[in-house]
Amino acid sequence: MPPHGPQSLRITDVSLRDGLQNEPRPISKADKFALALALHEIGVQELEVSSFVSAKWVPQLGDAADLFAMLAARKPKGMVYSALVPNMRGMEGLLAVNQAHAGLIDKASVFTAASETFAQRNTNASIAETLQRFEPVVESAKAHGLQIRGYVSTVVACPFEGAISPTAVAAVAERLHSMGCDEIDLGDTIGAANAESIRAVIDAVAARIGGTGKIVIHLHDTFGRAGECVRAAIARGVHSFDATVAGLGGCPYAGTPENPAPGNIDTRTLLQASRSAGVLDTIVDAALERAATLAQRLVRGA
Ligand code: HMG
Ligand code: MG
Repeated sequence: MPPHGPQSLRITDVSLRDGLQNEPRPISKADKFALALALHEIGVQELEVSSFVSAKWVPQLGDAADLFAMLAARKPKGMVYSALVPNMRGMEGLLAVNQAHAGLIDKASVFTAASETFAQRNTNASIAETLQRFEPVVESAKAHGLQIRGYVSTVVACPFEGAISPTAVAAVAERLHSMGCDEIDLGDTIGAANAESIRAVIDAVAARIGGTGKIVIHLHDTFGRAGECVRAAIARGVHSFDATVAGLGGCPYAGTPENPAPGNIDTRTLLQASRSAGVLDTIVDAALERAATLAQRLVRGA
């Protein structure tokens, strides 16, 4: 893999987490492990492997600790492993894995929203309550030498409240940043963004956290506008993006069971946009195609 420079694309592959979390059919640990091995080959910088959340809320990811244990001997050198953590209980789960497997997980990712209704529906807590829960999580992560990502969902629109103002997003982002989050990941949860609205939210957040250097963009491609959002973000100096192979992760709030909405931005769409903007990347296209084919087979149950 060519070296990853500061101006090249940084990709967090979220196929195993966001890509699978809403899949109604249980996917076995063996299949997730096989997908993780395929993802190791594509040249991304980070794998978001799973979530330490309540299995009652997200049954598909109830096997997080087991999957990490299976991957312990297979993690590629230099790759970052991360996992979602909503509270101290989740952090304890992450730390138990790290104790058993020599610091296997590099990053804990806390998550909240810019919309009160979404925060309630997603985490059974207000935005203020989620931030309060994160204080000891971030403190513990720092004490254990972990990196911390802070996600803000619904940065452009909420499925329940409609349009969300960039000012509201920036206020939450600033709190996460001042708490000690190393990066702020802006989630367009339902794929509502376009170039103009993503630019507005990036500018509002950058003004409050000292520039675009710590901003990550997490796009869903519900309406086919994720590519234009990538180009707009790159023009603002953002180089870090999340994506899934084959665009896994249809949003449960968009589409119908018969006609599911497109999911997270497909890594191929991300690359098309970044390469057209002249940004270098470390992706091996043939390996990406192999992982995408496997991912599609797994979610179709074929
Ligand atoms: P709660 O029910 O309010 O929590 O859930 P609680 O503290 O009352 O606990 C209830 C039960 O859950 C208890 O078990 C706890 O022990 C257990 P019981 O006594 O009933 O047997 N529990 C846990 N178990 C495992 N791990 C934990 C944990 N915490 C409590 N960490 C909670 C609150 C936050 C836990 C719950 O709402 C939850 O797990 N939510 C998960 C939400 C989630 O994962 N959403 C998807 C990820 S976010 C996302 O997709 C957006 C993103 O992609 C960006 C974008 O697109 O915008 C990141
Ligand atoms: Mg998402």
